[in-house]
Amino acid sequence: MTKLDGKVAFITGAARGQGRAHALTLARAGADIAALDICRDLPYPRYGLASRADLDETVGQVRALGRRALALVADVRSAGEIEAAVRETIGALGRIDILICNAGIADMATTWDVTEEWWDIMLDVNLKGYWLAAKYVVPQMLAQQSGGRIIMTSSVAGLKGMPGLSHYCAAKWGVVGLARSLAIEVAEHGITVNTIHPTGVDTALITGMAQAAGIPKEQLVAQLRQDNLLPVQLIEAQDIANAALWLVSDEARYVTGLELKVDAGQMLK
Ligand SMILES: NC(=O)c1ccc[n+]([C@@H]2O[C@H](COP(=O)([O-])OP(=O)(O)OC[C@H]3O[C@@H](n4cnc5c(N)ncnc54)[C@H](O)[C@@H]3O)[C@@H](O)[C@H]2O)c1
Repeated sequence: MTKLDGKVAFITGAARGQGRAHALTLARAGADIAALDICRDLPYPRYGLASRADLDETVGQVRALGRRALALVADVRSAGEIEAAVRETIGALGRIDILICNAGIADMATTWDVTEEWWDIMLDVNLKGYWLAAKYVVPQMLAQQSGGRIIMTSSVAGLKGMPGLSHYCAAKWGVVGLARSLAIEVAEHGITVNTIHPTGVDTALITGMAQAAGIPKEQLVAQLRQDNLLPVQLIEAQDIANAALWLVSDEARYVTGLELKVDAGQMLK
């Protein structure tokens, strides 16, 4: 497969989980990869984020596929760090054709137990971080005058309310408003903007959420299983990467403003 030959993808949260699956899937299709991650923990969520070793592993695996890869350590909440990461990408890889806003956190608490600090970090990572990546990547796409593809990973939590996740839901619903508005702004330039809405995905985020909520992972997984209509407990990061691969391909060139559910039928309930 070479359908993304010559393209460069800028992926946030690329050190592990879905971000790594996106990096490897797009690299297999021929793209070069700018892989960004924070590589340190934050005061919130109450579980560990990815490490530098995780990011190096992603970059090593992309290079093993014969593609160019750039490791970028940055916090998506920081305008200065994202602007610098975009500049470094253009310097090293020449262009940006694909943006995948994926870096995110989760945690669980009832609305009235969420602290101001938790609320702010949740919204800053999961919503402001998406806006900042778009803010600095879109001008580059416009300057290239060759269209572009932007994907923002929301969640089923961006389509419905979920107990214990009001701050997460608020951010993930916000992503939909951001994506729909941006989609209108950039459409005439041949840039598409779509959101993906996964059900529970088997990544460190699920383990972390269970840990944060103080419940066994099996209990959380059983709850998530009940939400799925199709017979699956947790879907795989690769399921999301497969959806993203279609959205960035020529085959989806006239698909924009779509909320693509990869939810095992959950939203039919
Ligand atoms: N796992 C699920 O069940 C699930 C379901 C629906 C949506 N999502 C969303 O999918 C996306 C990917 O999550 P995942 O499941 O791969 O989890 P993950 O924890 O494995 O990956 C998230 C990545 O984002 C990085 N990150 C977090 N904060 C950052 C920051 N401030 N700056 C830069 N990088 C940061 C982490 O270090 C980590 O590598 C997230 O947006 C998440 O909300 C996950």
